[in-house]
Amino acid sequence: MSAVPQPNVAAERKAFYDKIDKANVAPLWEVLHGILTPTPNTPCKPYLWKWDAVWPWIQEAGRLITAKEAERRVLVLENPGLRGRTRVTHSMYAGLQLILPGEVAPAHRHSQSALRFIVHGKGAYTAVDGERVTMSPGDFVITPSWTWHDHGNPSSEPMVWLDGLDIAIVELLDAQFLERPPEESQQTTRTGGESFARFGNTMMPVGFTPKSKTSPLFWYPYDRTRDALAELARADAPHPCYGHKLKYTNPATGGWAIPTIGSCMQLLPKGFRGQPYRSTDSTCYSVVEGKGRIKAGDETFAFGPKDHFVVPSWMPSVLEADSEAVLFSFSDRPVQEVLDLWREAY
Ligand SMILES: [Fe+2]
Repeated sequence: MSAVPQPNVAAERKAFYDKIDKANVAPLWEVLHGILTPTPNTPCKPYLWKWDAVWPWIQEAGRLITAKEAERRVLVLENPGLRGRTRVTHSMYAGLQLILPGEVAPAHRHSQSALRFIVHGKGAYTAVDGERVTMSPGDFVITPSWTWHDHGNPSSEPMVWLDGLDIAIVELLDAQFLERPPEESQQTTRTGGESFARFGNTMMPVGFTPKSKTSPLFWYPYDRTRDALAELARADAPHPCYGHKLKYTNPATGGWAIPTIGSCMQLLPKGFRGQPYRSTDSTCYSVVEGKGRIKAGDETFAFGPKDHFVVPSWMPSVLEADSEAVLFSFSDRPVQEVLDLWREAY
């Protein structure tokens, strides 16, 4: 018996499909194998964006449009497997945002949660719900869902940070809201040190009750993160796959800093040669320090400071460092964990 349908059977099926198609009904068996796959079947591809290539384009964008006119002057890091879909992985958005001296990116708030990871320059600020924080390279800053935020640069140098947002997740759930206030920047009533004093010292105010699942600490300065990693590197042997790796947590709950976006910082010792690793969360990396290589699937990319790269879900990857390297990364891991979907293998 042949598995190929006889011509009359094929024609009969086609006629049936055409008939039910008009009423928005479709046969599952024609698409089943593409939906239920033995392993993740992501369109996300491994890729690396060199800072040296992107930085001139960021500067060119700065000459073409103002931050105010653009609302957010950002060059999106679009995954080559997801072109035109404004995303770096299947679930996450990433972009490099430029604020020039004297510019303001006007206030707004939206359902999407955002992280900022500072890549280049210092002295610009992000204001979140009335509290302003001045940012430096390697700092991790959170804009929780539905909080007012604006950015400004009173310094004398251009500043670039990586934006990471859960846009595709919120879009999947059709839960997007956006609001713009009449005035372009918010009245800042509190200093940048306030939330850090409350929550940045493994302590918190007595009687504090969290109002949301997002961390009440919205600024994680790099010098603290870097000191912690240096101490760990002195104390412990590195993990065979990912070296010394810390996750950014919500100090009030111990969970991830953002409920939809998991963010981490890791240190790879000089000469590190990682073992193959894979996990179900496609991950976007920003290189802070050092040089090395990421091998993802059949591709190998050399990385250096301020480069960005992406490793797709379930693709075996290997990290190597020629000099001591520090990597920031983010993914949808908290969402997968809460849904009992996250897996890793090594
Ligand atoms: Fe925003």
